[in-house]
Amino acid sequence: MAEIKSVQITSDKNICEVLWKDGHESRFHARWLRYNCKCNKCKPPFSGVYTVDELQLPEVLNISEAHISRDGTELRASYDGDYLPEHESRHRASWLRAKCYCAGCLETKINQRDVISRYLKNNNRKMREIPTMDYQEIADDSNQGLFKLVNNLVEIGFCRIKKVPSESGMVLKVARKIGCIESTSYGEMFQVYARDSENAAYTNQKLPFHQDQQTHECSPGVQLLHAIRFDDCVTGGESLFADLYEAIEILRKESPQHFKTLTEVPVLYDTVDLDGISPRFFECQKYHIHLDYFGKIVEVNWHLGFNAAPQVHEKDVDRYYAAHRALLKIIRRPEMQYRFKMDCGDLIIFNNRRMLHAREAYEANGGIRHLQGTYIKLDEMKSKYVTLAHQLNISVVPPKVGNRSSF
Ligand SMILES: [Fe+2]
Ligand SMILES: [Zn+2]
Ligand SMILES: [Zn+2]
Repeated sequence: MAEIKSVQITSDKNICEVLWKDGHESRFHARWLRYNCKCNKCKPPFSGVYTVDELQLPEVLNISEAHISRDGTELRASYDGDYLPEHESRHRASWLRAKCYCAGCLETKINQRDVISRYLKNNNRKMREIPTMDYQEIADDSNQGLFKLVNNLVEIGFCRIKKVPSESGMVLKVARKIGCIESTSYGEMFQVYARDSENAAYTNQKLPFHQDQQTHECSPGVQLLHAIRFDDCVTGGESLFADLYEAIEILRKESPQHFKTLTEVPVLYDTVDLDGISPRFFECQKYHIHLDYFGKIVEVNWHLGFNAAPQVHEKDVDRYYAAHRALLKIIRRPEMQYRFKMDCGDLIIFNNRRMLHAREAYEANGGIRHLQGTYIKLDEMKSKYVTLAHQLNISVVPPKVGNRSSF
């Protein structure tokens, strides 16, 4: 429990210095405190309403006074020229300590949230075991089972669920246990089986490692694939997974210059068909490796199939291709791969913004391989993880999931 020992205002009246009982020191700017006041007038109980009127406050905001409430659990501060008469901003000590933005606290928070780096550092992935659960564990809407599933998604990036009833639409039922469906131009649910199609996924061809829908600004968050038919006579068709974050960490270690290039020179993805049966025009320029304000990798992108002609400055072309080639070599290393063949009833669920997936070519030999798939948003998955943990009294930190943000 955070307790404040003393507070003082700097001579320029811009900063409130808080000394905590455990010796930690925080510095809060006048404007930061005033805008984040938690009193009833400034922070009504319903969400989404912003009531602090910034423009009614002076251009230069000075703290006139700061003190601790009698029981020591709240910081109160008043400001010269505040538009609310007799107003004191109020901040619970526990909230204030959690939001401290000193360099040390920020670094701790960012590292705690980075579950992906932590997992890669602490786990020997040489065995490439497939995290696997049984449908029974989530069938009865048990929060424990669901939390285990979402935890696998957050930490490892994917999970296989065995013995899901081989009925059409079960993939939607499982998805909705985590969050609402993210519909695409293929509808709420897509059908993966070999047919006459211009989409390679809907043939029996080999699919190289990729993330779905890279031609979109925001590709789908979590993907689910359920094998409702996978006949024994079908040869090939194995599923492959690789963690793109892991590949990129290896690149960073082995070739820091290539790593840097992929954070600086963007790839262009596109898919264009103006005269086809379903005309489309999608394009998006993005970085293979996106770093945030803190220098953390917060988004990764890869799909050879939709690589368009790069539109970058002349000086960057060669270094881009060299870096791209270096990362591809790492992704292709056999030791990077999780490899298995789905059984009928298997459902695989994975973070599409983190994991690469691929498929070996197959021969139907008179049988059928039929998967049904759908997507859910990454934010829904993160929300489910935090709220389930709360309900189950499990202490977790909101995790980095790959949605271009450490927070
Ligand atoms: Fe795919
Ligand atoms: Zn207030
Ligand atoms: Zn701090």
